[in-house]
Amino acid sequence: MNNQYYVVLIVSLLILLVNVSTSSAQRQVYIVYLGEHRHSHSGKQTWEEIEEMHHSYLQAVKGSKEEAKACIIYSYKNVINGFSALLTPQEAATISEMEGVISVFHSHPTKSRLHTTRSWHGMSLLEANWDATRQPINPGRFLRRAGYGKNVIVGVLDSGVWPESQSFNDEGMEPIPSSWKGICESGVAFNSSHCNRKLVGARYYLKSYEANFGPLDPKLDFRSPRDINGHGTHTSSTIGGRRVRNAAAIGGFGYGTATGGAPLVRLAIYKVCWPIPGQTPAEGNTCLDDDMLAAFDDAIADGVQVISVSIGRNTSTPYIQDGIAIGSLHAVKRNIVVACSAGNSGPTPFTVTNVAPWIITVGASSIDRVFSSPVLLGNGAQVQGQSITPFKKGTYPLVYAADVEIPGTTTTLTNGLCLNGTLSPRLVRGKAVFCWRGDTFQALEVQRAGGVATVLGNVFDGIGVIGRPYLIPGTVVPSNQTLGIYNYIATHLNPTATLTPAKTLIGTKPAPFMAAFTSRGPNFIEPNILKPDITAPGLNILAAWSEASSPLNVPSDRRVVKFQIDSGTSMACPHVAAVAALLKAIHPDWSSAAIRSALMTTAKLSNNVGKPITDSLGNTATPFQYGAGHIQPSKAADPGLVYDASYTDYLLFLCSSSSNLLDPSFTCPQVLPSPSNFNYPSLAISNLRSVLTVRRSVTNVGMGNSTYSVTINPPPGYSVRISPATLYFGAAGEKQNFSITVRAGRAARRNVFAFGWYSWSDGIHLVRSPISVSKA
Ligand SMILES: *[C@@H]1O[C@H](CO)[C@@H](O)[C@H](O)[C@H]1NC(C)=O
Ligand SMILES: *[C@@H]1O[C@H](CO)[C@@H](O)[C@H](O)[C@H]1NC(C)=O
Ligand SMILES: *[C@@H]1O[C@H](CO)[C@@H](O)[C@H](O)[C@H]1NC(C)=O
Ligand SMILES: *[C@@H]1O[C@H](CO)[C@@H](O)[C@H](O)[C@H]1NC(C)=O
Ligand SMILES: *[C@@H]1O[C@H](CO)[C@@H](O)[C@H](O)[C@H]1NC(C)=O
Ligand SMILES: *[C@@H]1O[C@H](CO)[C@@H](O)[C@H](O)[C@H]1NC(C)=O
Repeated sequence: MNNQYYVVLIVSLLILLVNVSTSSAQRQVYIVYLGEHRHSHSGKQTWEEIEEMHHSYLQAVKGSKEEAKACIIYSYKNVINGFSALLTPQEAATISEMEGVISVFHSHPTKSRLHTTRSWHGMSLLEANWDATRQPINPGRFLRRAGYGKNVIVGVLDSGVWPESQSFNDEGMEPIPSSWKGICESGVAFNSSHCNRKLVGARYYLKSYEANFGPLDPKLDFRSPRDINGHGTHTSSTIGGRRVRNAAAIGGFGYGTATGGAPLVRLAIYKVCWPIPGQTPAEGNTCLDDDMLAAFDDAIADGVQVISVSIGRNTSTPYIQDGIAIGSLHAVKRNIVVACSAGNSGPTPFTVTNVAPWIITVGASSIDRVFSSPVLLGNGAQVQGQSITPFKKGTYPLVYAADVEIPGTTTTLTNGLCLNGTLSPRLVRGKAVFCWRGDTFQALEVQRAGGVATVLGNVFDGIGVIGRPYLIPGTVVPSNQTLGIYNYIATHLNPTATLTPAKTLIGTKPAPFMAAFTSRGPNFIEPNILKPDITAPGLNILAAWSEASSPLNVPSDRRVVKFQIDSGTSMACPHVAAVAALLKAIHPDWSSAAIRSALMTTAKLSNNVGKPITDSLGNTATPFQYGAGHIQPSKAADPGLVYDASYTDYLLFLCSSSSNLLDPSFTCPQVLPSPSNFNYPSLAISNLRSVLTVRRSVTNVGMGNSTYSVTINPPPGYSVRISPATLYFGAAGEKQNFSITVRAGRAARRNVFAFGWYSWSDGIHLVRSPISVSKA
């Protein structure tokens, strides 16, 4: 994009915004989706012609060409065909009836945000037990086979990048692959010299942001690919950070040599998320659909092979109104792998997002590391807490938040939560405060009221407590310890707590377990596709951070760090993107479906004590939390068989799953199969009447002759038959079909999901698929 064009556009937007407030207050940003350009980059249709065509739709409702030009925000020209514009609901409705229009949807400023954990939710590559400083146990062969990812380009849609981080140095890297066609876009505190052989490209997208919020406040963010938040720096360094010695979070936590999953991979940064005016970065950011679609359109044209998107929404949106789903379908059509975060709205069911079957949906689990920080109560009881806040050992008078609140600021539902403005400075000064739940804002409230330390009792997180580097001594205790502290305060005069600085412990057991916050199935949009697909490390993950940010991401925190520990499915997604990039390097001819299949069918279901993976409360977790299981990168390189799927298969799936088709050039068949029939590496059947038979096809990606036999672990209450039970493959690349018949038995319970799995094995490979089924 050339700068002149950009400036002109901003000026016209400014004029527009003035118009909006005066004439037509109800204009909003709508995306008009038209499918795909027929002649992408072949020169048959010039960019001017495309823009003209987009204007013609607008001219039809606006009356004049000038008005059409004035209201358009984006005109997608590379691959995606469509545009966004400021329209009234009536104008949007009119356009949606026009020829060639697939969908018209509102690009709403609160729809999507980054998927880090929020305050009030209250690998041997283990395999995949890396965060930056948890070194892979035996990564050598797999990483070497993949050339450490050096020929693969990964696009990251996020909040930008901090290019000075040592994680992005390009020392000794080979020249950029010639397939790269992207650019390094200049802007505030960012120019072409900030890109290098590691950060091969960087762009930013804020036209829709500015159409919604007005011109970007230069105090809120850089008008450039530079990351003020830290999130984008964290996710991109998790994917492709170089080896950095002596890396650690503030306080020295997680000390070691940092590295990303694919240390020589090339990173292309697409900044699409921006701070919401009036909110701190920790509270609010937004990633608008049309800004994201523009990024997808460029990333595809730029030549990325993997796209990582740690962005989502807390409610499910139909594919046809979902910029991430639409953008990724265009990407997947070109065999670009798209990995997305599942969301942080667990443990509530039906919360998983980014559920389109062409996306790899990633849940979050723990690694085998804790930051142990015991709390010694005045009665001698010791409570196991965790902390990543640096502090010195100290003993403090301990009060319970509900006992020291300003009267009238809380209700019976909110007392003890240390919500903003609720603590009485008179009663809190000089004390340690015990709060229920707990995260950044609770610790800040204690500090505001003059408290000198805090003990946060997280009722939801079980043992999976989220670490934050607070500004006062603070320890978070697992949920099963909270009642002990509460009772101690309630029954003792002058209670005290001694907080002990945390030690980093590694090799902890059990690990992995599922993070409490990870979003859960069933899939709200299409319950016959199991989501999430897989889980990867996302709890207390160390990676690079923006030096324009602070560890807590609030203005009162002025600390600057190079590395930071953060939690969320946002942190899990880039682990999978990194492994996908390594698989791309090893198997350049594999489709994105084959890569997803390899990741899923080789995932593991057990933890490091040989037991089934649990949730953070110790209950056995289900595929609604981890999908096929926990990622095992080196196993995924050699899966034996894959469940492949072509673009046409996705369109067939859309025919049977939703009445809205994303590609009108495709005609749905007369007889539609069940969406469960889609050749997915997992099997989900929702509302089974009595019996259903679905088909699957597997491709031999192993060596030549092999015989695979099936093992079935049916969901309790159901019978599962697979036919044939043995598959013979002559050569590599051969496909074989089989059918799966699932029958509800007497013990099957209505509207309750039951889980099982089936697997194929040739004695060397184990190709496992989870099953979820519910009876109507
Ligand atoms: C999440 O859901 C709540 C309640 O439904 C809504 O108010 C909020 O705007 C949503 N946020 C996002 C990011 O979708
Ligand atoms: C880019 O910015 C740096 C400072 O950050 C400056 O030293 C350099 O001259 C600039 N390069 C170009 C090509 O503008
Ligand atoms: C809590 O206080 C902070 C800092 O003043 C403010 O930014 C934030 O909006 C408040 N949070 C809530 C939930 O009210
Ligand atoms: C809390 O849970 C942990 C992990 O499951 C366990 O080791 C510990 O003994 C439990 N503590 C209490 C007080 O129940
Ligand atoms: C595969 O095995 C069959 C039967 O054992 C044999 O006839 C055939 O030659 C083998 N093919 C290869 C490629 O090894
Ligand atoms: C598998 O099924 C597909 C689609 O029905 C069919 O075209 C193909 O011939 C079958 N392959 C085998 C080996 O039976």
